[in-house]
Amino acid sequence: MTEPEAAAETTVDPAATRHEFEDIDDARSRFRDAGYLTDDRLATTVFLLSRLDKPVLLEGPAGVGKTQLATSLAAVTGRRLIRLQCYEGQDETKALYEWDYGKQMLYTQILREKIGQVIEDAATLTEAVDRISQQDSVFFSERFLAARPLLEAITSPEPVVLLIDEVDRADEALEAVLLELLSEFQISIPEIGTVKATTLPYVVLTSNNTRDLSAALKRRCLHLFLDYPEAERELEIIRSKDTGLAEALAVRLVEIVRGLRELDLRKSPSISETIDWARTLAVLGVKELTADVLSQTLNVVVKYERDLDRAMKAIPSMVDPNADVPDSLDHGHGHGHGHGHGPGSDHSHDSGSGHDDEPDGRAIRAAKDQPGRHGGPPPKPVPAGQGERSFASRSARKRPV
Ligand SMILES: Nc1ncnc2c1ncn2[C@@H]1O[C@H](COP(=O)(O)OP(=O)(O)OP(=O)(O)O)[C@@H](O)[C@H]1O
Ligand SMILES: [Mg+2]
Repeated sequence: MTEPEAAAETTVDPAATRHEFEDIDDARSRFRDAGYLTDDRLATTVFLLSRLDKPVLLEGPAGVGKTQLATSLAAVTGRRLIRLQCYEGQDETKALYEWDYGKQMLYTQILREKIGQVIEDAATLTEAVDRISQQDSVFFSERFLAARPLLEAITSPEPVVLLIDEVDRADEALEAVLLELLSEFQISIPEIGTVKATTLPYVVLTSNNTRDLSAALKRRCLHLFLDYPEAERELEIIRSKDTGLAEALAVRLVEIVRGLRELDLRKSPSISETIDWARTLAVLGVKELTADVLSQTLNVVVKYERDLDRAMKAIPSMVDPNADVPDSLDHGHGHGHGHGHGPGSDHSHDSGSGHDDEPDGRAIRAAKDQPGRHGGPPPKPVPAGQGERSFASRSARKRPV
């Protein structure tokens, strides 16, 4: 398979001989052993996926572990991972199968003499064409079929995990092609017939919600919204990654990241970014999470200039709710190494320009003027569903109803 989108990946753990999960706890602990920490909903969904022979559709913001779930599922069940990475303009020849034109040509060249014999005594051109077409099935047979990931998953003699990644990027036509596979575990090839799965694959689809998926596709799948994790689970994930960051700092870092997710950012920091930030701070040998240190390394987790600007302003008040508030604001065009002592959280912003926010410094100072300013802030309670809210509001290409 030469096309990058058709690349099949293999992640087989030879020690993992048990293909199914005994129960939800079994699923949870085997994923944990593979370095993927689930919560109850996730463990239940994975268990059901293995028992109901139904694909699972994971939706959620970037970096919350959707793709990793499929990779880990392959690892813990000892199945080969076959991945279809979806993109705009992708057609079924890259997803299902295509006829190997080069091989067909080669065979016709080699068999030229034989073909000549078939039409040798044909009286007319029409008769010659008729005779050739009677041989169609020779050239449109499995021998000349180049399987792409979906057909490969169906025809694999060993059970596999099929990951259909970022299905929302594919066109609706390809989404329609998927329906037969997802409900019947089969693919119809007009020239050959219907190819049924020898062993049922575990199918995982992921979506970042760049457009609405069809109801038909959703109906065929178990659906799970993967949100940013609860603080405790995120901390556990950080611990499990051996980032080298001290426990107390990791606790604070998770709080800070959760605070950033409450801002109206174009791209909220994900789990992978929390991990990156923890590693960065550990490499720098940071002993205390000061506003300066966080601001200087903020570009590890915040990737848009407007977001950086907003986060810079919010950081000091996250570190210390009574942080000094300067009279004039730095609007942060310089990607913020060493600056960013803005007036604190600006949760109220909602414009996209990044230059629309002239906060009332006095009001903010008054709000921050509380006792105990150097005692460290109390943990800021962050409501659940951070990703779900921003995720839902970002759905770009809505399906017409
Ligand atoms: N539950 C988890 N346990 C352990 N690590 C996790 C977990 N969730 C996410 N991660 C970490 O976050 C990284 C990013 O996850 P992943 O690439 O699967 O995100 P994604 O949801 O597919 O993002 P995108 O939509 O951008 O493709 C993983 O490589 C892994 O290190
Ligand atoms: Mg992914």
